[in-house]
Amino acid sequence: MKGHFRLLAALTVFLSGSSYAGQSSVELGTLLFHDPALGGSRNEKSCNTCHPDGRGLEQATRRSNLTEVIKSCILGPMDGNRVDARRVDLRSLKMFIESLGQRKPASGDQTE
Ligand code: HEC
Repeated sequence: MKGHFRLLAALTVFLSGSSYAGQSSVELGTLLFHDPALGGSRNEKSCNTCHPDGRGLEQATRRSNLTEVIKSCILGPMDGNRVDARRVDLRSLKMFIESLGQRKPASGDQTE
């Protein structure tokens, strides 16, 4: 019985991961940030290609149009599709970027 449960749990994780269904989270946002197929992207670029480890995006949390900026980076530089802001992947990406704002700058790293 226990084995069945574990299999079901693994399957659930797999399915939700492949369709980006379920709950938005920083963890999912981190994965998506590195995903070159995000938003139907037609090139090899991921967010991480141009924003390595999210460096330089720490201040972006202050933007009131953060979601719009993310959408336009998918549409423009990533050559992807228009993505609905309410989607789990968009919300997760936003959460990932917001988490960067809470990251302490490394010593000697001048952010301003
Ligand atoms: C081909 C390069 C490229 C890719 C890929 C890319 N961006 Fe950008 N992004 C830029 C450029 C250029 C700017 C505008 C200059 C700047 O502010 O860094 C920008 C700006 C931003 C900003 C605003 C930064 C600020 O300080 O206001 C955010 C947030 C951002 N991108 C997130 C993303 C996310 C999330 C992805 C993946 C979905 C992504 N970008 C993919 C090039 C890219």
